[in-house]
Amino acid sequence: MVSNLCYVLALLAYVHIRATIEATPTTEPRKDLKIVCPYHLNTWYAPDSRDYLPEVIDESQCTHIVYSDRIRYTDLAANRSLHDGKKLFYDRVPEFRKKGINVSISFFKFNGYEFAKILGNSPENRTDFVDKLVGFMEQNQFNGFDLFWGCRSCAKEHYRNVTHDEYFMDLVRQLAEKFKPRGWFLSTFVSIGEGVVHNGFDIRKLSEYVDWMTYHPIDSPENSTALIAPLYFYPGDVQPESTVNFSVNYFLERGVAPHKLVLGVSSRAQQYKLQYVDKNGLNAPADQQFSEYFYEICEKVAKNEQWTVVHDPDRRIGTYAYFDEKWISYNDVEDVQNKAEYIKQNNLGGGSISSLNYDDFEGRCGCGKSPLLRALAQSLRNDGAAKMENCT
Ligand SMILES: *[C@@H]1O[C@H](CO)[C@@H](O)[C@H](O)[C@H]1NC(C)=O
Ligand SMILES: *[C@@H]1O[C@H](CO)[C@@H](O)[C@H](O)[C@H]1NC(C)=O
Ligand SMILES: *[C@@H]1O[C@H](CO)[C@@H](O)[C@H](O)[C@H]1NC(C)=O
Ligand SMILES: *[C@@H]1O[C@H](CO)[C@@H](O)[C@H](O)[C@H]1NC(C)=O
Ligand SMILES: *[C@@H]1O[C@H](CO)[C@@H](O)[C@H](O)[C@H]1NC(C)=O
Ligand SMILES: *[C@@H]1O[C@H](CO)[C@@H](O)[C@H](O)[C@H]1NC(C)=O
Repeated sequence: MVSNLCYVLALLAYVHIRATIEATPTTEPRKDLKIVCPYHLNTWYAPDSRDYLPEVIDESQCTHIVYSDRIRYTDLAANRSLHDGKKLFYDRVPEFRKKGINVSISFFKFNGYEFAKILGNSPENRTDFVDKLVGFMEQNQFNGFDLFWGCRSCAKEHYRNVTHDEYFMDLVRQLAEKFKPRGWFLSTFVSIGEGVVHNGFDIRKLSEYVDWMTYHPIDSPENSTALIAPLYFYPGDVQPESTVNFSVNYFLERGVAPHKLVLGVSSRAQQYKLQYVDKNGLNAPADQQFSEYFYEICEKVAKNEQWTVVHDPDRRIGTYAYFDEKWISYNDVEDVQNKAEYIKQNNLGGGSISSLNYDDFEGRCGCGKSPLLRALAQSLRNDGAAKMENCT
């Protein structure tokens, strides 16, 4: 990361000039920006949870829906179990398509590690995979594929192997060749950091094959309180590479065209258990980190006065709240609006709420249904309506 930092510094002047020229704010209605709506079917196996039903999708806000399913390569290869229980969910796809909405499929269990391991050094294996995927998409009427290129739990050496990068790029090339004549979308979900888009990885080449790349923030430290993808550096920041602005510039400096980047805004919340109740700011020592959802925490924070909510007055960073030994960081409506402004100012391709399942899709917190998604869509579209109010 140190060398990356130097690189950023060397290009500061250039980026600054470009940003100044391109930042021409407009309030005209816009239809060109992508609003990518990932919908996770991973909770399918917990049928008592409400957040897995396709009702979480407010399709009127989306230009592209991404079904993220737990299918594995081996299922696809064997044409096995693709419909068991999922029929209900896949039946919606043709309905969305009739309304003109684009629907991609993504296999979140099928990541870079599996490309390397299963497809191996065999162009034929890759061709076979692509053919099976095309058959699957035709059958279910998906018109896009979102390639998940990241894996938290996989050993890092699998990503750093340049040979595996070549296999991966060949797969992407083959996918792009098959998709173009069909008018289908190819996209990918990426994150910076040595695990995924490491220094040797040709991210520019990847960006040329795909229609868009959704950028996902890097992981936060587990032992001290941290925000989820703060927009900008702020004094005292111990992880400058976790800012959105850093990552976006990392991609741009490596030759990625800004319109290929879709900024992912997390609808997860990050909860910590504080070590000392009175040390409740940023970078405070913490014992544990676990994931919660915006719809869970917004209710707590909005309806329970014991929580103290902290917003940066300059809105460089997102929101956090604490109560007793509990400390939570998250993106609220205003944070999403700020990120949407950043998308427009930097001429990015659009934005995404990752994922719809964790937004307040039932409207329990006082901001209406799916407030994060609606705030994003409203700002990106410049729809002229009164700006949505924050509720946390
Ligand atoms: C965003 O990053 C660019 C490039 O590193 C830098 O020039 C700019 O000052 C940053 N913006 C803020 C507000 O930190
Ligand atoms: C589907 O994608 C195409 C190409 O990006 C776009 O023109 C169209 O408006 C999208 N559909 C919707 C409902 O936004
Ligand atoms: C896969 O299974 C589906 C449904 O059972 C069937 O319609 C399709 O033809 C099969 N595809 C292949 C390549 O065998
Ligand atoms: C091709 O795929 C098969 C099935 O996954 C695997 O056993 C084989 O090793 C692969 N071929 C190469 C050359 O890696
Ligand atoms: C990289 O991957 C290839 C193919 O799997 C393997 O033959 C080679 O030993 C790996 N290189 C390293 C340095 O691990
Ligand atoms: C957290 O862990 C990192 C590396 O493991 C260490 O550098 C850092 O000082 C730790 N922070 C706290 C607050 O303990």
